[in-house]
Amino acid sequence: MTIQTIRTQPFLDQKPGTSGLRKKVTVFQQPHYLENFVQSIFDSIEITPNTALTLGGDGRYYNSTAIQTIIKMAAANGFAKVIVGQSGVLSTPAASHIIRQYNTLGGIILSASHNPAGPTEDFGIKYNTPNGGPAPEKITEAIFAKSKVISTYKIADFSDVNIDIIGEMQLDGFAVQVIDPVTDYADLMASMFDFSAIKLLLQSDFKLKFDGMHAVTGPYAKELFVNRLGAPQNCLMNCEVSETFGGGHPDPNLTYAHELVAALYSTKDVDFGAASDGDGDRNMILGNRFFVTPSDSLAVIAANATLIPAYKQGLSGVARSMPTSGAVDRVAIKLNIPCYETPTGWKFFGNLMDAGKVTLCGEESFGTGSNHVREKDGLWAVLCWLNIIAAKKQSVEDIVKSHWLEYGRNVYSRHDYEAVPSDIANSVMTHIKSQFTSLPNQKFGKYYVKTADDFSYTDPIDGSISTGQGVRILFTDGSRIVFRLSGTGTEGATVRIYLEAFEPNVANHHCDAQVALAEMIEIAEEISQLKQRSARGLPTVIT
Ligand code: G1P
Ligand code: ZN
Repeated sequence: MTIQTIRTQPFLDQKPGTSGLRKKVTVFQQPHYLENFVQSIFDSIEITPNTALTLGGDGRYYNSTAIQTIIKMAAANGFAKVIVGQSGVLSTPAASHIIRQYNTLGGIILSASHNPAGPTEDFGIKYNTPNGGPAPEKITEAIFAKSKVISTYKIADFSDVNIDIIGEMQLDGFAVQVIDPVTDYADLMASMFDFSAIKLLLQSDFKLKFDGMHAVTGPYAKELFVNRLGAPQNCLMNCEVSETFGGGHPDPNLTYAHELVAALYSTKDVDFGAASDGDGDRNMILGNRFFVTPSDSLAVIAANATLIPAYKQGLSGVARSMPTSGAVDRVAIKLNIPCYETPTGWKFFGNLMDAGKVTLCGEESFGTGSNHVREKDGLWAVLCWLNIIAAKKQSVEDIVKSHWLEYGRNVYSRHDYEAVPSDIANSVMTHIKSQFTSLPNQKFGKYYVKTADDFSYTDPIDGSISTGQGVRILFTDGSRIVFRLSGTGTEGATVRIYLEAFEPNVANHHCDAQVALAEMIEIAEEISQLKQRSARGLPTVIT
């Protein structure tokens, strides 16, 4: 095999975000751009002899082109083998599993998650470490540092490898193993859940709808729900994968998964609805005319975990990102297990899971997962719910409402203001912080401020400190308002306001979250002046 060393120049104008490098496809199509980033990754890890790399992506436009480049660069940079999903496809949780299952030296995942796909849309690339999880700060810092001084990259000059056929091929001592992207993952799920009970449920008059949003989970859902669990084929919606994700926005929330929402809200026929995002790590859970907030979903799964075979011995602990509601904290108290509060982003859960301190974790942003992999996992969350429903023989709504009766309800909503000019967004955050000393003890309607601060986190395992992780206004009754600037937006700044009112006695509460949170919404504006400063009316997205 001939290895070429190509001259290049530093290229990144800013540090990659928490989810790797995400840019327009046209940016990645610039000469040497993808190659520079891949070389920066390879230069930041120690590639020892006989090690393999896991490789796959969400199947969006540019996925197959990038896969070929990365295979050739892996060969040139000393990997003995690349394990790649057939046609270059692996969902993010499946990639995490493959890394762990085959002990590879991490993996490269090609995805821009829920962002739209196509020639004028987004592409993304990230490196996951050998534990299967997103690279920690010290590795992403190293990748960024390498990208600033890069002068050459290495690439083998063999012709494109046929990755559409399962099997292994040898190229001068370098191997490419093409695997079925679904089988290992589906086997893992089958080993964790009570498939016989779920099968009985799905073959009864219980009706499931799963929306793949034209993205990577289609084939996974088909294998799990139809082939292995016997649900009828028509339980699948939008499960044909397309390079453009059907021109849609594969983010499973009430706004973007509108087809599924319509199916669950327009008739009484469908009992359970679920959707996943572009790369399969997010999930949304719906009952008939009933939305389960991701924060409640985490709490319900934690409270009922012992009904699921994989967790029948109980949980070692749970974790949630700071803006996620405190519903799971209440379950942890009852179960007498620790509950960790981490900054936003899945990578913070990795150390806790590797150290055996937590079994389940989740984020309010439709991410739920456990220590079976090191990414959040959309289909796993759906299977948790199906397993719990099969065991409890109750509807989604009844399960959540009885949960609220037992634990109280953390009424919750997130309001996003997208594309706010950065200087205005920053001035809003500065304005809130300027009130840190005056806010405590201040009264807003029936709420008293207890404390106001900027969240920082010390990792209990490696001692690393993350500061500036979002501003918290905590009220004496357990209610909260959190303000944060998004780290994943691509245009201007996205200001996120997380609103949470704790209602101990559910008999008193208004069921609609926006109604129940009306006072909190006003307080948030009073403290932040966001609408006033940005001249905006309603939020761009409410979840
Ligand atoms: C968003 C979510 C966060 C999630 C991340 C990656 O980040 O809020 O919970 O981990 O996407 O999926 P943000 O844009 O808020 O920085
Ligand atoms: Zn995703």
